[in-house]
Amino acid sequence: MSDSGYVHGYSLREATRLADQADTLAELLHGDTRYPRGSRVLECGCGVGAQTVLLAAASPEAAIVSVDISPASLEQAKARTEAAGYENVEFLAADVYELPFEQGSFDHVFICFVLEHLPRPAEALRCLRRVLRPGGSITAIEGDNGSWYCHPETPEARRTVECQNEIAARLGGDCLIGRRVYPLLVEAGFRDVHVSPRMVYVDDSRPDLVEGFSKSTFIAMVEGVREQALELGLIDAASWDKGIADMYKATGPGGTFCYTFFKGTALKGA
Ligand SMILES: C[S@@+](CC[C@H](N)C(=O)[O-])C[C@H]1O[C@@H](n2cnc3c(N)ncnc32)[C@H](O)[C@@H]1O
Repeated sequence: MSDSGYVHGYSLREATRLADQADTLAELLHGDTRYPRGSRVLECGCGVGAQTVLLAAASPEAAIVSVDISPASLEQAKARTEAAGYENVEFLAADVYELPFEQGSFDHVFICFVLEHLPRPAEALRCLRRVLRPGGSITAIEGDNGSWYCHPETPEARRTVECQNEIAARLGGDCLIGRRVYPLLVEAGFRDVHVSPRMVYVDDSRPDLVEGFSKSTFIAMVEGVREQALELGLIDAASWDKGIADMYKATGPGGTFCYTFFKGTALKGA
């Protein structure tokens, strides 16, 4: 997949951002995800392996198959997982819409921060449902940029986030997909669908979150679309730079930052 089809691209900076995001949010998002000994788990859209190492650590006796459409990202994921010493993960290049697995091959499916980039997320979930065994589970985690706010907040800061949403939408994605996790899982035919909102709240008394979430995850993500936003004429350079500077101000003394992720779990019926 080329950079033009994926809003965040495949740069080193993006790989670092994904790793910061995963490490900072590990307990909040994954603390309650554990797969039993011998279970077969499919991680779809593993990227550079930022969540893969967390999955492998939490479920060391599960057999994990991690797929992604980008061979370059898979190489990084493999290197990251090997460097961390995990041996329970296999990697494979695959497109979620054309998964090379028999029906019912997996006990569990895990997909995190991928549906937001897909033009047909419900179809993707149906493809994942096909490879689950009856009674198997899916875990789908997504953010929702509409859940973001900060203090102090300015119109320019909000506009930079809207630019990212608009660019993603032009590429067929949806940065507001967190609110759709429940209806998408239902539409894809899953049962016992449960969605749990996971809110990140940051102020300057939480320096780890200021660095790991507000700066290195959220602002870094928005900053990544600067050139596209300017090229498309969605905003002028001065407003963009002010918006980003304003967001950084909200990470300083007296500032606050909020964002909500949505973690959906569901089962495949018999
Ligand atoms: C934002 S990254 C998330 C990576 C990882 N899950 C994480 O949270 O760090 C989205 C990933 O989805 C992958 N992807 C996009 N379209 C895909 C498709 N059709 N099939 C499989 N993977 C896809 C991209 O290559 C990218 O690695």
